[in-house]
Amino acid sequence: MNADDETPDVYEEVIELAKRRGYLYPSFEIYGGVSGFWDYGPLGKELKKNIVDLWRDRYVVEEGFREIETTTVGAEQVYEASGHAEGFADYLTKCGGCGGYFRADHLVEDHSDVENADGLPREELAKLLADAEAPCPACGETITGEVTDFNLMFETNIGPGDSRKGYLRPETAQGIFVDFHRLKRFYREKLPFGVTQVGTAYRNEINPRSGVVRLREFNQAELEYFKLPDDELDLEEYRDVDVRLYPVGEQEKEDGEVLETTVGEAVDDGVIASESIAYFVAVSQEWYTEIGVDPSRLRFRQHLPDERAHYASDCWDGETLTSHGWIEVNGVADRGTYDLERHMEHSGEELRVFQEYPEPRVTEETLVDPDMSELGPRFGGDANKVADALEDLAENDPGAFEGDSVEVQVAGETHEIDVETTGFERREVKESGENVLPQVIEPSYGLDRIVYSVIEHSLDHDRPEDSEDERRVLRMSPSVAPYDAAVFPLVSKDGLEPIAEDVESRLRDAGLMVDYDASGAIGRRYRRHDEIGTPFTVTVDYDTKEDDTVTVRDRDSTEQQRVAVDELVEHLEERT
Ligand code: GAP
Repeated sequence: MNADDETPDVYEEVIELAKRRGYLYPSFEIYGGVSGFWDYGPLGKELKKNIVDLWRDRYVVEEGFREIETTTVGAEQVYEASGHAEGFADYLTKCGGCGGYFRADHLVEDHSDVENADGLPREELAKLLADAEAPCPACGETITGEVTDFNLMFETNIGPGDSRKGYLRPETAQGIFVDFHRLKRFYREKLPFGVTQVGTAYRNEINPRSGVVRLREFNQAELEYFKLPDDELDLEEYRDVDVRLYPVGEQEKEDGEVLETTVGEAVDDGVIASESIAYFVAVSQEWYTEIGVDPSRLRFRQHLPDERAHYASDCWDGETLTSHGWIEVNGVADRGTYDLERHMEHSGEELRVFQEYPEPRVTEETLVDPDMSELGPRFGGDANKVADALEDLAENDPGAFEGDSVEVQVAGETHEIDVETTGFERREVKESGENVLPQVIEPSYGLDRIVYSVIEHSLDHDRPEDSEDERRVLRMSPSVAPYDAAVFPLVSKDGLEPIAEDVESRLRDAGLMVDYDASGAIGRRYRRHDEIGTPFTVTVDYDTKEDDTVTVRDRDSTEQQRVAVDELVEHLEERT
């Protein structure tokens, strides 16, 4: 199946489970599939929805960063301005033997000691590729092809013919920047403010080898936080959040280590330079823990200078450890004023925000209003030049006007002029504010990699007390698991089914996501829901008929307890 055959066993196990249980399906599978495209099955869709809901709880509800939805097709000018049309490229090479296309930097990394080869200039990379004598991953022939730039954006035509070019968006962020002239009014021109967007992005990856980790169509959840350049977010609430950081300094050491610290200490020690970046690293850490990413397999790695995107001056990536090694799940980047400046230049629209001073600032302005009926007859054709010289003098040396006369030089000659004739004046000017281009801090999350990490980090095997066999279990956090509970009738006879159906509808009416499962032996149903990650199963048995209680089994401990049907909703809500 597409390009997944080179990946390790755990990945194979997760993908097999994900496909069988309805988490992930290869897109267009019946036609052979295409690398880089995956669909979400019913459970995957629910898991992703729950993860996005918790992201929205943090960013949209708690922080108040309103969400917008912009188009996924963008006009060509947007991506010319953003720099993507010119600079959003990977290094491509072609195998002379089979004609396959590959990322030249990946071949160099795989067949030499060079790391982060995508940050190297093209000529240097071409030389390293020639030296590496890398075999083609498809046919084994030595790669000798040249190295070219391959732009990752999917190009399209808007309307018939090729008159209007467009691109599928490579990030959701640009939609926010190009709506900024309206958004600043929505926020009544008060900085700071944040705008979020959750949606699809597209990148025509050269040869996605990493299954669901590198996709050509994927989902992002992004925040663009607009602030005054000198303002920082207040870190107080998050100072004590524990994080594992891998700064540039440690990466450059031979035996560099991940630092276990708190966000507050990291800022105090200068490990993270900006409090605003530290703030979003802390929010990310807390959110990852909430959705069930294993904190011991999570770190934040600072980008090396040659790794940063064309718009970023500093960036910290959230990375999870998976069967694909450390993968980037989000980035917190300082985009500075880059994007707004470029869109302001290219569109001509005013994107600066008028910021009122706390108190109006009073400055002094000096100006002249020369009496041309005096200067004209005296200086003839040079009268205007004399007037200009007086204006310059008033601006640069107003003290010169304190006497009865001033001297100006025009065309190498010095002229003395009565101050009265110059109309010199000092005026107080009150300024209530100024136009400022906001600085942007951007936390950007790759939802598909996060969904994958949550599934892989949840995967476990044990031998529970209620079974003689080893089981496979997804210990998924109840906050994101697709089902809150599953309801089973012990058997499909003796009137247990109608009671179980009634229990199921009570739970659904209370807003819980419930599966009703009556197929196969009870042990098999436990195994099925252990593998799906359902935190609780509810069994209706013969005792239910007598005393209106059910058995609630905890997925992780497999412990069972009797709960009254009337108290079931409350019992489950407390535990999910
Ligand atoms: N707006 C900034 C931006 O797009 P990025 O680092 O290029 O930054 C953000 O992308 C996140 O999107 C990454 O951290 C990663 O999780 C995810 N991502 C990027 N390319 C991806 C791909 N080809 N497949 C799946 N996820 C991807």
